[in-house]
Amino acid sequence: MIAREDVIEALRSVQEPTLKRPLADLGWIRDVVVRETGVSLTVVLHPDSLSQSAELEQAIGEKLERLQIGGKPHLRFRARTEHEAEALAKQQPPGGGAEASKAPQQQPVRGHGAGLEHTPLLHPDSKTEFIAIASGKGGVGKSTVTVNLAAALARAGKRVGLMDCDIYGFSVPDMMGIEERPEQVGDKIKPIERFGVKVISMGFFVEDNSPIVWRGPMLGKMLRNFFAEIDWGELDYLLLDLPPGTGDVALDVHQIIPQSKEIIVTTPHATAAFVAARAGSMAIKTNHEIIGVVENMAYYECGSCGKRDYVFGRGGGGKLAETLHTELLAQFPLGTPDNHPSEPDFSQSVYKADTPIGREYAALADQVITRCGR
Ligand SMILES: Nc1ncnc2c1ncn2[C@@H]1O[C@H](COP(=O)(O)OP(=O)(O)OP(=O)(O)O)[C@@H](O)[C@H]1O
Ligand SMILES: [Mg+2]
Repeated sequence: MIAREDVIEALRSVQEPTLKRPLADLGWIRDVVVRETGVSLTVVLHPDSLSQSAELEQAIGEKLERLQIGGKPHLRFRARTEHEAEALAKQQPPGGGAEASKAPQQQPVRGHGAGLEHTPLLHPDSKTEFIAIASGKGGVGKSTVTVNLAAALARAGKRVGLMDCDIYGFSVPDMMGIEERPEQVGDKIKPIERFGVKVISMGFFVEDNSPIVWRGPMLGKMLRNFFAEIDWGELDYLLLDLPPGTGDVALDVHQIIPQSKEIIVTTPHATAAFVAARAGSMAIKTNHEIIGVVENMAYYECGSCGKRDYVFGRGGGGKLAETLHTELLAQFPLGTPDNHPSEPDFSQSVYKADTPIGREYAALADQVITRCGR
């Protein structure tokens, strides 16, 4: 089986045309998914290079052909974000001036945990930013927000992990279109990488989607295992998709990761926001800093006339943010991603970067990056 690393290795000689550095070294070959139907990946480019996408597509296609994976490669090209430019600038030697110099560099780039020594995630010196996505009620879109924020942070050049802590109602693998199961390497389990995000879910360890019966104390143990036995590598962000409500798992997360920050998700309905406030007060009680509120299913926008219909009411997110003395970070409309199962990197719930909701998630990721200062 050809791995993501093999694909990146095969493309090692392909240069970013403006920066004249290998795309692989820049870490600008992203979202690599290998399926029988072909390879799909995203190529990040300097804005001046976008006009050369067609040439690059051909060059990359030829290199991929040598891997004999079959199918047709599915390539996406996009300009690097401001954050990616900044991240690159930070990797330059003093006075190097990242893009300004545009000179070939041999700087090693920190890969996605590419075999480097790293600090365990829960170690006090760990630089990983933990963000738990919580809500009072079920079904408001926590998992949707988590997978899309994770993908958007990865697109912004961050090293991102996602832990599906909903051990009864795990949905992340299905939502991200993950069919494979993690492998054990030595005494550690390697998370599955999808859309540039390292994912681990209870769903990976359950046969045939059969229900699990856990007793309370097992939950915390499972979460601790997710930290101790998974090879996360170095991460900038670890997002935790919490089950609804303020139950055992939420408490365990509070205990295991006291430094975690939180995003509270609600629908615009006043009752939903009221219930979500309970999740928010729990965060406050346990000293988890609330980064902000996300209102999901905020409105439905008519495709032809653009008129907005506030199907689930209005104002819940703003009210909740006010109650929790925090900000309303985003309002996402109703709308499922226009993804088709025939696409090699098909997912049920991840909005593509170049769609209106995908761009709104990029804006949310930018806000999170600004608020977390990394
Ligand atoms: N903005 C949206 N527009 C349309 N459908 C959405 C939107 N957000 C979420 N959904 C759909 O609503 C359902 C519930 O969303 P999701 O699973 O993300 O919620 P949740 O809060 O994680 O639920 P649970 O509490 O069960 O974990 C899913 O089928 C999802 O695809
Ligand atoms: Mg969920």
